[in-house]
Amino acid sequence: MSVHIGAEKGSIAETVLMPGDPLRARFIAEKFLENTECYNEVRGMYGYTGLYKGKAVSVQGSGMGQASLSIYTNELICDYGVKNLIRVGSCGSYHEHVKVRDLVIAMSASTDSAMNRERFNGNFYAPTADYHLFKTMTAQADEMGMTYHAGNILATDTFYHDDPEHWKKWADFGVLAVEMESAALYTLAAKHGARALTICTVSDNLATGEFTSSEERETSFTEMMKLALETAFK
Ligand code: HPA
Repeated sequence: MSVHIGAEKGSIAETVLMPGDPLRARFIAEKFLENTECYNEVRGMYGYTGLYKGKAVSVQGSGMGQASLSIYTNELICDYGVKNLIRVGSCGSYHEHVKVRDLVIAMSASTDSAMNRERFNGNFYAPTADYHLFKTMTAQADEMGMTYHAGNILATDTFYHDDPEHWKKWADFGVLAVEMESAALYTLAAKHGARALTICTVSDNLATGEFTSSEERETSFTEMMKLALETAFK
């Protein structure tokens, strides 16, 4: 057991998919994996290990935001020896051409969080995806005939912002979309010598006001999961 994960050592695979929502972790385990075992129920943050095409993979809810994700990422890597972390999430688009249901693969993650400012004594670290995972996922998407956007995203600490225009500055500087986890994920993976990558489906668009229904979210999520699982074993 670690502080927040009630699993035996050895019961979590080297590759872990991380949705924010623990019920998504259960959905993935039930829909895509065989011989599945639930290894964590602490705080309802479900974690499962199962087989995908005969190979072991785990799925762990991260919770929302960088504070929660950091706890699970630290423990997965440091206490359970996890080597590859693929966040499978949703994001809000900052551009008309990045449409709802599209896929965004995050090469890098800007942030408004103070975590790294504090960690690097006021200097600015550039949280970056693992190149091997990134290259593998984009090649796999091409092979599966799936289109995607790749670039910089924003990991924000603030879902409900006081200034409704705040996102436009990030958009002007090429940030594709916003979510709440990836800067911490990339930073911690780099620190501990693990690999990390985020892929998101666009659930809403701040530029157009469009958003997806829960049914549409489930369909696009399923497509993204197939891509993430195929990437995990290349
Ligand atoms: N803001 C932050 N995180 C998000 C959003 C958003 O609009 N959409 C999906 N995740």
